[in-house]
Amino acid sequence: MADQHPAARWLRDAFPIDGEVLKEFSSEPIPNHLKRWWYALGGTPLYLFIVLAATGISLTFYYRPSPDVAYESVSRITNELRFGWFIRSVHHWAANLMVLAVLLHILRVFFTRAYRKPRELNWMFGVAILITLFTFGFSGYSLVYEQLSYWATVVGANIAEATPIVGPYMARFLRGGADISSNTLTRMFVIHIGVLPTAVVGLLGLHLLQIRLHGVAIPDGEHEADRGKTFPFFPNHLMTELVLGLALTILLTVLALIAPASLGDPANPNVTPEHIKPEWYFFPMFRWLKLTSFEVGVLGAMAFVGVFLFWPFIDRLLERLFPGKGVAMWIGVVGVLTLIVFTVWEAFV
Ligand code: HEM
Ligand code: HEM
Repeated sequence: MADQHPAARWLRDAFPIDGEVLKEFSSEPIPNHLKRWWYALGGTPLYLFIVLAATGISLTFYYRPSPDVAYESVSRITNELRFGWFIRSVHHWAANLMVLAVLLHILRVFFTRAYRKPRELNWMFGVAILITLFTFGFSGYSLVYEQLSYWATVVGANIAEATPIVGPYMARFLRGGADISSNTLTRMFVIHIGVLPTAVVGLLGLHLLQIRLHGVAIPDGEHEADRGKTFPFFPNHLMTELVLGLALTILLTVLALIAPASLGDPANPNVTPEHIKPEWYFFPMFRWLKLTSFEVGVLGAMAFVGVFLFWPFIDRLLERLFPGKGVAMWIGVVGVLTLIVFTVWEAFV
C-alpha cells in the first residue's frame, strides 16, 4: 500500500472497506435463467422509481400545495419554466410505466409460482409495495388540481369512506377533516412527497434484502442443461439492467415529446363533470363499483386484496386439495382476463 496516492490512502483510512469484500458482495452469482428478460423485470420499476424521485423532487421546487395557487403553479411549470413541461411529462410517463412494469413483474412472479415457500413473505412485501404505488398515483393525480383530477380525489375519498369499520377514519385522514378542504391538498402533498417515498424505500429495502437472502427461485421447468449454471451480478447482470435503463430513458423521452402531460380546466368544486375518470390502473375498480353498489363493491375489492395478499398460502391449500390439477394457475388466468376486460370496458364507456 506504500505506493498508494496520499489521497487514496486517506480515503481508505476514512472508509475502511476491504476491496475483496466489496468484490465478493457485488459478484453474487445469478442463475442462468435470469438471462431471459421476463425473469429480470424487477429491475425496471426500480429504475423508474429513481427517475420519479429525481423528477418529483425537481417539481417540488416549483409546485405549490395550496388550492388557490396549485393549478397556477402546475400551469407555470408546464408553460413557462424552461424544460418544466419536460420534467413534468417524464414524471407523468414514468409513473404510468412504473405501474405497468410492476404489473408485468407480478405476472412473471405469479405464473412461475416464484412466491412459494420460502418467498411468501416477500410476495406480501410486494403487495404492500403495489398498494403504496397506487396511493402514489392517486395522491399525485390530485396535486394537479384540474377539474378531472379534483373530482377523482372526491370520488376516491368517498370510496375509502365506504370501507367497513376503518373507512370513516381513513376518509377523514385523507381529507384532513370531515369534508374536502384546503387541508386535503396539503395532506395529499405530504403523503405524496414524504410519507410514500419513505414507505416505499423501506419496503423496497426489505424486498431486495429477501431476494439477497433467498436468492431467486429456480423455475420448475428449468432446462436440465442450465441447472446450476450462474453468471456474476457485476458486471454482467448490471450491464443488462443498464441497457434496460437506457432503453427506458429513450422511451420516456419519446413519450414526453410526442404526448406531453396535459392540463385541463382548473378544479371547480361547485361543478361536477359529466364523466369522472381516474388513472387507468383504477379502471377495474371503477367498473366493478359501477356494476355493484358502493358497499358491496368495496367489500368485493377488500376480498380481492385479501386473496391477493395471502395467495402463496391459498395456492398451497389448493395444491393439497387438488394435487397436480393446476387450479391455482387457472384462477390466475381468469383473474387476469377479468381485470383486462374491466379495464377495456371502463376505457371505452
Ligand atoms: C420521491 C418521489 C416523488 C416526488 C417528490 C413527487 C412529486 C410530485 C409533484 C410535486 C407532483 C405535482 C406536479 C405536477 O403534477 O406536475 C407530482 C405529480 C404526480 N406524481 Fe409524483 N412524486 C414522486 C414519486 C411518484 C411516484 C413513485 C409515482 C408513481 C405512481 C408518482 C405519480 C405522480 C402522478 C401520477 C402525478 C400527476 C402527474 C401529472 O399528470 O401531472 N409520483 N409528483
Ligand atoms: C417497485 C416495485 C418492485 C421492484 C423494484 C421489485 C424488484 C424485484 C427484483 C429486482 C426481483 C429479482 C428478480 C426479478 O428481477 O424478477 C424481484 C423478485 C420478486 N418480487 Fe419484486 N419488485 C417489485 C414489486 C413486486 C410486487 C408488487 C410483487 C408481488 C405482488 C413482487 C414479488 C416478488 C417476488 C415473490 C420475487 C421473488 C421471485 C423469484 O425469486 O424469482 N415484487 N422483485
